[in-house]
Amino acid sequence: MIEASRIAQSIGFTLDRFIKNNQDQFQFATGELSQLLRDIALASKVVKREVNKAGLIDIMGPIGSSNSGGESQQKLDVLANIRFTRALSKGGEVCALISEETESFVDLNNEGKYVIAIDPLDGSSNIDVNVSIGTIFSIYRRKSSVGKAIAEEDILQKGSEQVAAGYVLYGSSTMLVYTTGHGVNGFTYEPTLGEYFLSHPDMKIPRQGKIYSINEGQSNHFPKSIELYVKYCKDNNYSARYIGSLVADFHRNLLKGGIYIYPQTLEHTTGKLRLMYECNALAFVIEQAGGKASDGQNRILDITPKSLHQRTPFLVGSIEMVEKAEEIRG
Ligand code: AHG
Ligand code: MN
Ligand code: MN
Repeated sequence: MIEASRIAQSIGFTLDRFIKNNQDQFQFATGELSQLLRDIALASKVVKREVNKAGLIDIMGPIGSSNSGGESQQKLDVLANIRFTRALSKGGEVCALISEETESFVDLNNEGKYVIAIDPLDGSSNIDVNVSIGTIFSIYRRKSSVGKAIAEEDILQKGSEQVAAGYVLYGSSTMLVYTTGHGVNGFTYEPTLGEYFLSHPDMKIPRQGKIYSINEGQSNHFPKSIELYVKYCKDNNYSARYIGSLVADFHRNLLKGGIYIYPQTLEHTTGKLRLMYECNALAFVIEQAGGKASDGQNRILDITPKSLHQRTPFLVGSIEMVEKAEEIRG
């Protein structure tokens, strides 16, 4: 465990130096996970550059195809997927890649020890309107022996088996927030230097907050328990904040305290968000920050995925708020 004071002293460290200094925390430290985190950071800088040019060059709007969930793909979804896939395959540390944008996993045909699940561009509907979007990633160790074919046990791992996870937020500034199971640290991108610097060491979410984030337009179809919890939020004068980009809503609640909920709805009877490349990473981050993530009954990190693009109801945020929401029964 890194002491808070040691991290606090490292404010202003570049991401690179921070990764190097903390490499000894990884159970199987051989430098590959460090390199993998650097590859993600590099790809995020490329995507950030594209995101900032949206509107100037022809990268807005739909591309005319659909993703794994049948949703219309935006040009930036596809572009971000290409950038991350390229960076991760060049690095050689990742042997298989699970992405929202591809139906089955991608075998990178190398001896990499890690498997990665990624939502390359989260918040697609906000691309064209200049609102914050993000990238979400989960990193697992490969279980089968190197040299053999990628097996189901490599791909369908529980969130509790993640070795690292995090997200990039392309907002008013760009931030990379990640955990390797030793707390959560946030880095802010300094565009003139082209570097991420540690700006938010040892992030902790307040145990209780006053923000609730849910798409209330769907409220006619919420389960009774969620309907009652939303009423509880109103009765307690909580503020409603919903950006519609999971990463951005999550990040705000992490800093200020709050709860994000995407429950079952009429259209999405098992929830909308994807366990493997949206919920697991954020669940790992929130637990490391002292918060909680559940599907209403079960800890997200304990759910065994049955398929790559499995969806789940998702409640995440301040521990006391998530516990309260779980407690209320319909
Ligand atoms: P993506 O852009 O990767 O498909 O994810 C969109 C997700 C998530 O970011 C957001 O919180 C949620 O969809 C918003 O859904 P609604 O528009 O149904 O509220
Ligand atoms: Mn998403
Ligand atoms: Mn996406």
